[in-house]
Amino acid sequence: MIVLGIETSCDETAAAVYDSAHGLRSHCLYSQVATHAPFGGVVPELASRDHIRKLLPLIDAALASAGVTPSDLGGVAYTAGPGLVGALLVGATVGVGLALGWGVPAVPVHHMEAHLLAALLEAEQPAFPFVALLVSGGHSMLVEVAGLGRYRILGETLDDAAGEAFDKGAKLLGLPYPGGPELARMAERGRVGQFRFPRPMLKAPGLDFSFSGLKTALALRVRDLQASGALSEGQRADLAADYQQAIVDTLVGKSLRALEATGHRRLVVAGGVGANRVLREQLRRDLSRSGATVYYPRIEFCTDNGAMIAYTGCQRLLRAPAAYSSVRVEARPRWPLDELTEP
Ligand code: KG4
Ligand code: ZN
Repeated sequence: MIVLGIETSCDETAAAVYDSAHGLRSHCLYSQVATHAPFGGVVPELASRDHIRKLLPLIDAALASAGVTPSDLGGVAYTAGPGLVGALLVGATVGVGLALGWGVPAVPVHHMEAHLLAALLEAEQPAFPFVALLVSGGHSMLVEVAGLGRYRILGETLDDAAGEAFDKGAKLLGLPYPGGPELARMAERGRVGQFRFPRPMLKAPGLDFSFSGLKTALALRVRDLQASGALSEGQRADLAADYQQAIVDTLVGKSLRALEATGHRRLVVAGGVGANRVLREQLRRDLSRSGATVYYPRIEFCTDNGAMIAYTGCQRLLRAPAAYSSVRVEARPRWPLDELTEP
């Protein structure tokens, strides 16, 4: 089964080809970062228009680089949500249109399910069951994954997502959009332990997160320091290092607790924040101490990509082909993960 995957839920246009017999055959991506950078965040209408401009050439490139033609395809998978509605509609209408024209089923894919399955694209795959830590710009959650479509949300953020905490922290430190990777880079030059920040919810029971108090703590710190003059480069780097450490400690602490609570020994990390080096190293170290193993998608598949959409669509299509026989364009800006069922 060969499936074309299309991703347009936010500010990345991506297309990929997954082959159930031979694995990933191609993946192409166009990032809109430069388009949105002057505005300090994603402008939804600009995102939609850019997807329209870039998607068809990217699909051509993905098919060509995979060495397949539309007649080789068994289906077209597209991100149906959650995400920006205009952006989703571009991928959904193109995906359904192509599927209709090519006479193959169109498979609407849940973006977060695709993130949590992205690690299965790697040679070193986690077996089911596992706990997934999903940390992106829009979501932070711990999910128990018993199998395809068998998800139980163990904990979620009560306010900001972890990626949002990185992005807002970066803004407070005067760093450009997209802030998360910039803050991480700045933190590399800073010293941990110069500033004290709360580890939100780490002491509280349960597996929920909350990051807005941490962001406020940083804002207050910055304000106090600025009262006696502009922040030095050293101060900004130290603030970044301690702020990042507070987020990482919280994510690691809750992940360990989720493994303990479920009795599982495998943790899969997914979503853009999964690209964070300090988080990756600390998880690897702390989990191996407790006899558990952590799995990651390769860095480029932590952030949004078409490969995870093609993979997820292919798995669902293989298990339940009859579910995709009708023609319907699906775009769901809000789509709770636990509404998904086993195919
Ligand atoms: O999964 P993703 O690409 O898009 C969403 O579905 O949201 O995640 C993007 C988020 C952004 O908030 C970005 O700042 C954050 O992931 N991010 C990082 C790093 N790389 C991306 N945060 C911390 N450290 C990084 N290295
Ligand atoms: Zn994403």
